[in-house]
Amino acid sequence: MRIAKRAAVLSPSLTLALTAKAKAMKADGKDVLSFGAGEPDFDTPDFIKEVAIEDIRKGVTKYTPVRGTPDLLKAIVEILAKDYGLVYTPQEIIVSLGGKHSLFNLMYAIVDDGDEVIIPSPYWLTYPEQVKACGGKPVVVDCPPEAGFKITPEQLRSAITDRTVAFVLNSPGNPTGAVYTAEELDALGAVLEKYPHVAIISDDLYQKLVYPPATFASLPVVVPSLKARTFVVNGLSKAYSMTGWRLGWMAGPKEVISVVNNLQGQSTSNPVSFTQRAAATALRSDHAFLDPWLEQFAKRRQLIVEGLNALPGVKLDPAPEGAFYAFPDVSATYGKSYNGRKIEGSMSFAEVLLEEGNVSVVPGIAFGEDRCVRLSYATSEDVITNGLKRIADFLAKLG
Ligand SMILES: Cc1ncc(COP(=O)(O)O)c(C=O)c1O
Repeated sequence: MRIAKRAAVLSPSLTLALTAKAKAMKADGKDVLSFGAGEPDFDTPDFIKEVAIEDIRKGVTKYTPVRGTPDLLKAIVEILAKDYGLVYTPQEIIVSLGGKHSLFNLMYAIVDDGDEVIIPSPYWLTYPEQVKACGGKPVVVDCPPEAGFKITPEQLRSAITDRTVAFVLNSPGNPTGAVYTAEELDALGAVLEKYPHVAIISDDLYQKLVYPPATFASLPVVVPSLKARTFVVNGLSKAYSMTGWRLGWMAGPKEVISVVNNLQGQSTSNPVSFTQRAAATALRSDHAFLDPWLEQFAKRRQLIVEGLNALPGVKLDPAPEGAFYAFPDVSATYGKSYNGRKIEGSMSFAEVLLEEGNVSVVPGIAFGEDRCVRLSYATSEDVITNGLKRIADFLAKLG
């Protein structure tokens, strides 16, 4: 069967493939410790679940407006005002089936064949694939650990061409946990102000998961002149532990949002009916449930940062300041072998560590940085402590 060119260019998700392997090993009775999770290990708060359950019972099970119910749009307007101090109207917002869906719809709406989208690397692996799926060209800019995993104003300036349609900024970042400061955003904003044809995609999914002294900053807040061409993407997955609910949104210029509304209306239609009042309730809550989660994440972060840096051949610099990932450099182990199996890069590091050491991590090559691997600390302190011990044993046996 012939496959369309625009679909054939898509790569399978490396992270999903290895997660599947780890799951299969667990199903076979192997005691695998996993650092692979891309989602918080907490349950969705009960007060949010109750609203959805009530709505299912009440029969809120039919189509809603494509862009989301007026009340949910209002709740999003409110949270953007509260968290960012930015003023939006409901026409500038659309709710989709997760932030990933919002991003895809956005790429579809603004990327034409051959258009370029600037993506700092390491990147969340979905960005380049979505750009390619829409016929565009991902322009990947290398931001190594030595540069704090952040793009510099000079790098941004030299990546912009006449074909650039958008620049993707993800802070706190997946997989690095890097958080841009307001000063850094100000300097990037000064470059962007000179290129009005470039839209800004601010992927803020980890906005609420930042560890002091770091603080969250956002481009359209730091450089207000950019708001008119910035798309702020967010959702409930990470901060509310609602990955399976599939609810995300974006806020941006209404002429594009209206095109996305047409696209969504002809593809997936509305977000799930009975998640929407629950989502509005979550957004309007006092967010008290977040405090103990952040406390736990902060503890686990410290455990994993100290533990990784104590391992020979492993370097975690800079340490993550947000999200729930650590992205250490393990390249000092490349060229060594375990039981005759040679470690040639992050892919074989992750494979051999999983199969021989029963620990699952994600290869950095999936995120554009082959020197590193990603460990998620959205898991218990026990798993972190024991997993680090296993990694230490594994490293000790490399020859
Ligand atoms: C950086 C980043 N953006 C967006 C998403 C999308 O999340 P969701 O589609 O669950 O809202 C993720 C999920 O892993 C992510 O890591």
